[in-house]
Amino acid sequence: MGYFRDNVERAAGYVPGFQPQATDVVKLNTNENPYPPSPAVLKALVEVRPEQLRRYPDPLGQAFRAAAAGVHGVEPDNVMCCNGGDDLLSIAIRAFCDEKRALAYPVPTYSLYPVLANLQDCPMIEVPFDEEFNLPGELARTGAALTIVCNPNAPTGTFVPIEELASLAGELSGVLLVDEAYADFADADAVRLVREFDNVIVLRSMSKGYSLAGIRFGYAIAPTTLITGLLKVKDSYNVDAVAIALATAAIEDQSYFKENVERVKQDRQELTEQLRALGFAVGDSCTNFVLAETKNGSAAAIYEALAQRHIFVRYFDAPGLDNKLRISVGTREQNERLLAALREIVVT
Ligand SMILES: Cc1ncc(COP(=O)(O)O)c(C=O)c1O
Repeated sequence: MGYFRDNVERAAGYVPGFQPQATDVVKLNTNENPYPPSPAVLKALVEVRPEQLRRYPDPLGQAFRAAAAGVHGVEPDNVMCCNGGDDLLSIAIRAFCDEKRALAYPVPTYSLYPVLANLQDCPMIEVPFDEEFNLPGELARTGAALTIVCNPNAPTGTFVPIEELASLAGELSGVLLVDEAYADFADADAVRLVREFDNVIVLRSMSKGYSLAGIRFGYAIAPTTLITGLLKVKDSYNVDAVAIALATAAIEDQSYFKENVERVKQDRQELTEQLRALGFAVGDSCTNFVLAETKNGSAAAIYEALAQRHIFVRYFDAPGLDNKLRISVGTREQNERLLAALREIVVT
């Protein structure tokens, strides 16, 4: 008998994407934004006072809550700050799920959900998407305490219309968490559902559209009754003082954010077309990455050949994904280096 709970002993743990420490690499494997954050963020960083480091941070991150509420047209009490979107996933699963209260989600999707469910030791109900990644009707009938829909979905980049999420929210007896880590790159979002339903939580991340993966900041948007419950579960000081200051500066600079996102969306289009020209099957993506299905050669072999050239993309050795590569949209120069390498690898 080990020291750990049985489910922890058995768990493999989440395997994060490779984070190479060398600088001369093309890193397109964990969907970071290739462009720097707003200059306002760097100004806020320089202006951090020793006093802010000496004291505990504001437990609720009120400055950020107010700024995010303004952006989304909700009240500050509808916002909860988190140590990255992943922190919210962990808080929600701890808050709603146990041995008798299941977690449900459509698959394939973000591979962290089953890892967290295993740690919580709750049943998980995986409902397959159809071939076109439409929302499966059975998702409404699982009886789960918590249902997570990643929208736009990872790693497919596909998007479920918000009306379908509204119908799902109305049918579920439990809570619907819409994981919108990539919504900055889509044309619509589910925030209005927070006003229309008492069981909807929207997850947002500052890692992607705001170029802040390094500080770990995300947030929930939800009805106040749900926020009140979630606050009981979070760590008292789950976001630090520097992160609150920087995330607030970032979200307040909406004009930089919009420009940044627009540039990534344009580059996504170009990358998609170039990959198609090389013979990959690539669906239209609503995120800052594309999922490219290999037609010439194995995805694993292409992944290895790229890695040897210090170009990192994401390969999932999982059913339905093992003939595909997930590629983050990089700068134009990075995308060009990727495409030049692929021309060599795929043709030879
Ligand atoms: C689908 C999805 N949800 C949530 C997250 C969490 O993002 P973060 O913790 O960086 O805010 C990620 C990160 O890549 C993701 O891909």
